[in-house]
Amino acid sequence: VARGSRGLRRMLGVPSDLPPQTPEWSLDMILPEDRERVLAVMKHSIEEGSSYELETRVATQGGAQRIMFIAGEAVKNGAGRVVKLIGTCLDVTEQRRREEALCDAADQLQALSRRLVEVQESERRRLAADLHDRVGQNLTALGINLDILASRTKALDADATHRLRDSLALLDQTALCIEGVLDDLRPPMLDDLGLGPAMRWVVEEFSKRTEIPARLLVQGTERRTDRLNEIALLRIVQEALNNVAKHARASEVTITLSWQSDGVRVEVADDGAGIGRDGSPGRRGFGLITMRERIQAAGGLLDVQSVPGKGTRVRALVPG
Ligand SMILES: Nc1ncnc2c1ncn2[C@@H]1O[C@H](COP(=O)(O)OP(=O)(O)OP(=O)(O)O)[C@@H](O)[C@H]1O
Ligand SMILES: [Mg+2]
Repeated sequence: VARGSRGLRRMLGVPSDLPPQTPEWSLDMILPEDRERVLAVMKHSIEEGSSYELETRVATQGGAQRIMFIAGEAVKNGAGRVVKLIGTCLDVTEQRRREEALCDAADQLQALSRRLVEVQESERRRLAADLHDRVGQNLTALGINLDILASRTKALDADATHRLRDSLALLDQTALCIEGVLDDLRPPMLDDLGLGPAMRWVVEEFSKRTEIPARLLVQGTERRTDRLNEIALLRIVQEALNNVAKHARASEVTITLSWQSDGVRVEVADDGAGIGRDGSPGRRGFGLITMRERIQAAGGLLDVQSVPGKGTRVRALVPG
């Protein structure tokens, strides 16, 4: 026999004159899918004389479904025999719905971030291909034309010869620039050789360009993982190094790539100025935000720590 307070009856839409033993006003209210579990918890409490806590879905008289949290205990008579269970009931429907909505929103956010990263990467690939095929080929043709002209310098006056030389030099510079942009757009080696060699290349290029000593430590054994996750780590290291060059005034930087059993971790640690008060959250660049988006899309973890005057450490972990 189930009995309930007036409040509980009101919560469940049970008319106050319905006698306790009616089937509608009993454990029958519990949804069939949950009933066995609830009865097992109650039976256990009766057998052990212990307290219990459970959550269950119930169908109210009005036909709506609610989620109830019930906590109670077994009551014994003088002889130590359990004679009844008492408990309180809390309607947690709204709370659970909000939690579910929050989880859904988090899932959607991760899906969105992943999509964003995918779109960004495919856009970069398209740009790289266009740049390579359209501009690159024109530059090659231009070079051939200029070379032919240069072989006929006798027909040109001094000023024209000078301009021709200048044009050839400009062409070389432009080709180099485009190569640099292409390397940035699609990290060379990542697809063919994997993260380790691509990371080494990024670190060496950084050192050459900035003259800041950078060393790469590799721990564990390299293996291939999800391509987008590999790209995420590489891009995060690229941006962290960009930040070192732009903001840190560091005398050296150490990059660690470690292959762990549950994922891949990178760390970029510099001994520079640290992120000042203008760094976060006031001054808003896109670098740190994009790092977070990439890590979110990969389902990984990002941690940025900084001590003013001592340096900054960016750590990222992706599963795989
Ligand atoms: N390694 C670092 N050393 C010192 N300060 C840093 C470092 N990394 C980031 N910061 C600080 O944090 C701020 C935010 O970095 P973030 O990369 O988000 O933006 P940004 O580099 O200024 O601009 P963007 O990356 O969009 O070109 C920077 O402006 C800088 O003040
Ligand atoms: Mg930046």
